[in-house]
Amino acid sequence: MHKDRLNEDNNIQVLVVEDEPQQRQIIVELLQASNYSVLSADSCEQAIVMLKDNPVDVIFSDWKLVNLSGIDLLNYCRKSDSNILSRDPGFVIATAHGTISHAVEALQLGADDYLAKPFQRQELLLTIDKALKAKELRSQNKRLSAQLSEQSELVGLVGKAKCMQQVYQRINRVSQTNASILINGETGTGKELAARALHQQSTRHGQSFIAINCGAISESIAEAELFGAEKGAYTGATALKIGKLEAANKGTIFLDEIAELPLNLQVKLLRFLQEGCITRLGSHQEIHLDVRVIAATHRDLPEQVQQGRFREDLFYRLNVVPILMPPLRERQEDIPLLSEHFLTLHAKRHQLPKTELTSNALRRLLDYHWPGNVRELSNRLERYLLLDDESELTANTQLNDAYDSSGLPVFNFPKSSFNWEQFEKYCLAESLSLHEGNRTKAAKYLQMSYKAFLYRLEKYQLNG
Ligand SMILES: Nc1ncnc2c1ncn2[C@@H]1O[C@H](COP(=O)(O)OP(=O)(O)OP(=O)(O)O)[C@@H](O)[C@H]1O
Ligand SMILES: [Mg+2]
Repeated sequence: MHKDRLNEDNNIQVLVVEDEPQQRQIIVELLQASNYSVLSADSCEQAIVMLKDNPVDVIFSDWKLVNLSGIDLLNYCRKSDSNILSRDPGFVIATAHGTISHAVEALQLGADDYLAKPFQRQELLLTIDKALKAKELRSQNKRLSAQLSEQSELVGLVGKAKCMQQVYQRINRVSQTNASILINGETGTGKELAARALHQQSTRHGQSFIAINCGAISESIAEAELFGAEKGAYTGATALKIGKLEAANKGTIFLDEIAELPLNLQVKLLRFLQEGCITRLGSHQEIHLDVRVIAATHRDLPEQVQQGRFREDLFYRLNVVPILMPPLRERQEDIPLLSEHFLTLHAKRHQLPKTELTSNALRRLLDYHWPGNVRELSNRLERYLLLDDESELTANTQLNDAYDSSGLPVFNFPKSSFNWEQFEKYCLAESLSLHEGNRTKAAKYLQMSYKAFLYRLEKYQLNG
């Protein structure tokens, strides 16, 4: 006997639409014998009435009915919005022998399968099963694309550009795990917000989220800050000090500006990541901790590794799942949404009436290069609201009028041809002189990896 995996709990509802009473009866009984709950109708009109009140998973309809046909019913189902048909049912149409054109038409209109009459019991069950699976796939796809197209926010992160959707997806995917995350992105792109979102979405959300800025603590106290210190471990250690990692036990630690962590502490952090335990300064006792590590940097860590400033093994340990926060200029479509968000937020915070942006101001915001990213947008809007002065909003944006919307400097290309290699050499030399010969800075200025920059210097013999 055909036993349907999907139908073990007997809650799959099939609607049979057949105008010929005897045939209808046979089909209903066959399906009931296979554990389906079955409704039946003798016309398209009656079927539509039934669909409004009953959630149906699969419709099995004859092509030829009295007034309207099975195709009319199919059209009704495929065109109705989900408010009417809560389950977006699977659809199988039964066609008379030799009317293959009807079957083709039905498939084109969105039927999941057809069955030529007369059919065997087994064929009927197989085709119902097939329609159910198709329906499942459809609703899964719908759920996924709804998540994708509608998510314009994620715990504080605003933006619905495609690159942000990818960030949300990744956050959603990994937040439940304990994997280490490395967030990269320019200043003000929301790295800390993303880290908080990861924590909020995880099972650790009831526990602490501890942020530490590795660039803001001096090397001498960094170890005690991170790993803790026993009383008397160093001069001035008058009491036991609990480190940030220990304080974050069961929760999440956010190591901001990780590239600035001194090398000797990188070793200790690596040990913690590998073994899950720390020792406080001035103690030999190992303390086992359960802490999720999220790190962030605006620097190019692989480049730091190459230059010997960051341990390669630690980089790989941290970079289990990388998340890249896109710069604002790469998601211009989010600027109106973000502006609205910040105007509402700051108006509320300062108890001021909300102001609208003029189209001229908005255009200026769209054209701007945004070196300070979302933070800069937020600050400009706050100042604008407080001073009620549009020129505050766009002040100095004209400086960047020399950039086009993709953030590239605007060049005046000559009408006649020009020598590309000479131009490239000129850009390299200019960048070097702008940065007083500092190659790291010159490469960064051209948004090039250090290696690629060196290669070009060599090529143009600029490395002397
Ligand atoms: N997508 C966003 N939606 C709403 N607010 C955002 C978004 N991204 C950033 N912000 C806001 O912009 C400011 C800067 O964000 P955040 O501190 O997370 O950036 P960051 O990448 O950590 O910057 P930095 O590298 O300078 O530390 C914060 O006030 C934050 O709330
Ligand atoms: Mg930050």
